[in-house]
Amino acid sequence: MSVFMVDKEIVTCPERPRAMFKMGLSMAFLLFCANMLLLLVLIQRDFMSPPARVAMAVDPPLEDITTNTGQPTAPESSRLPRRLPRDFRMARPEECPAAMHKLTNYAPASMKSKIPYSRQKKFVLGGYQQIDKGSGDYKLVAPLVAKLSKLQHEQGIFGTVGELGVHHGRFTGALYMTARETEKLIAADLFEDLQYQNVDVSGYGNRQAFRQGLESYGLNETTDLHLVHTGTTEDLPFDWHVQSDFEPFRLISVDAGHTAGLTFNDLEIAFCNSVPGSIVILDDFFHNLWPGVTEGFFQFASMGPIDNGVYPFLRCEGKAFVTNDKALHKHYYKMLRSEPKFKLFLNAYAHQVRGSKVKYMMNGVEYLKCSSDKLKRDTMHLLWNSLVY
Ligand SMILES: C[S@@+](CC[C@H](N)C(=O)[O-])C[C@H]1O[C@@H](n2cnc3c(N)ncnc32)[C@H](O)[C@@H]1O
Repeated sequence: MSVFMVDKEIVTCPERPRAMFKMGLSMAFLLFCANMLLLLVLIQRDFMSPPARVAMAVDPPLEDITTNTGQPTAPESSRLPRRLPRDFRMARPEECPAAMHKLTNYAPASMKSKIPYSRQKKFVLGGYQQIDKGSGDYKLVAPLVAKLSKLQHEQGIFGTVGELGVHHGRFTGALYMTARETEKLIAADLFEDLQYQNVDVSGYGNRQAFRQGLESYGLNETTDLHLVHTGTTEDLPFDWHVQSDFEPFRLISVDAGHTAGLTFNDLEIAFCNSVPGSIVILDDFFHNLWPGVTEGFFQFASMGPIDNGVYPFLRCEGKAFVTNDKALHKHYYKMLRSEPKFKLFLNAYAHQVRGSKVKYMMNGVEYLKCSSDKLKRDTMHLLWNSLVY
């Protein structure tokens, strides 16, 4: 028996390692094949000529796109500036009324305010605080908006007043306060039902809260507003004022999506639908948490459809005030700088180097920078109140 066992050991032991050896060999072979396959794929990618790869990245075969008129246009690749990401919505000059210099239809002139004087006073003396804010707090920008609107009206500039991205409408109220009886009011937001499209999660629009905000200063959404767009601003046509029958903007706040692409889009909507001398207020400019806004602004200024027409004249409380007319840029800048009520808070100089003062400059023009840290809330109310007209 023991011999048998010994025999068995002698017979069976060499068999098992042999089988295992065979299996190991097949696995090593399979592994080798898989590696070779992977290597082949990598070699094909890495040794592809660089120009061929760049061409793949920027020039994929694109089918013709169709404009609103149903006319086929050039492929997208040939009309997009190269450095603009492909998901940016780019207006061609012929789609953008302001770029075609077709915007001269101002609203009829009238100095009578849309909101009764007494309701305005109540709002500026603290009533605005009843409305929840969706952005940074405003202090100096509110009186500045009143002052600038008066300057516009004195220059004969009348048009629609609106905001893209209203949240509950606190800043919208500051804008609407300046409207004259002949000027239309407009708002746009995703509001509560479409928040899943709020890709950068900026604010949280709510239609009912917005409506209540309007009512707090005597406006009725149905009868006093020309249009409330519920949806993303990407759905707005570049010739929005033509399609929705309103005079181009005199004053518009851009505060909806905060990515570079959405900012670019919203600036196109604002500028393409603005009268000469209009003021576009961009929120969260130079904000370290919303870098897309700054990126979108400069991309728009250099590559947007508005040729030579983006003139910032003021930065205040996170907002950039920009106009589309060089002469009016100079006028707004000069008038703000010489206004005694604002003198204390506005600065034209960024810093001083070896005795020389360096001015704030952007996009080729000078602008003012405000500093309102020391402005007390009560003083701000009085200042704003003194500018109601
Ligand atoms: C920062 S909040 C606006 C704050 C408001 N301007 C204020 O001063 O109280 C941004 C608003 O934009 C809306 N929004 C975000 N993305 C949008 C988009 N793509 N289209 C339209 N509205 C958008 C949000 O619902 C939110 O109400």
